[in-house]
Amino acid sequence: MTDLQSNTAPGRTHFIVSAVVEEFIISIPSLDARFTCRSDQTILKAMIGQGLKPLAIGCRNGGCGVCRIRIQSGDHHSLPMSRSRVSTADEAAGIRLACRVYPASDLLIEPMPLTSLSLGKSQCRAA
Ligand code: FES
Repeated sequence: MTDLQSNTAPGRTHFIVSAVVEEFIISIPSLDARFTCRSDQTILKAMIGQGLKPLAIGCRNGGCGVCRIRIQSGDHHSLPMSRSRVSTADEAAGIRLACRVYPASDLLIEPMPLTSLSLGKSQCRAA
């Protein structure tokens, strides 16, 4: 969330921008895993930063598709994802790349099995 305020003094305009960073809980019930994630970091980055590995780790930049997840509940923002990794049908079904998702609430997610789609042209290896 970003608040933007302006204050107009004679001959000057001042802008004050303050960013509010929130922290949310990411839960993976099938793996009995939970970790925290700030609103300014991706799910994968938060997981790696806490030394956890419930999700596969690859390129960390949306290129390999190994971090595919299904978001079962919760609000989030996603950066653009390669259609070779997440099709429009996948996206409609809640599939995202954990390295491209920022939480906007607590999230309930599930890792998605690797498929020929997500492995297609990958040059990354899961860690
Ligand atoms: S780690 Fe490669 S797409 Fe997310």
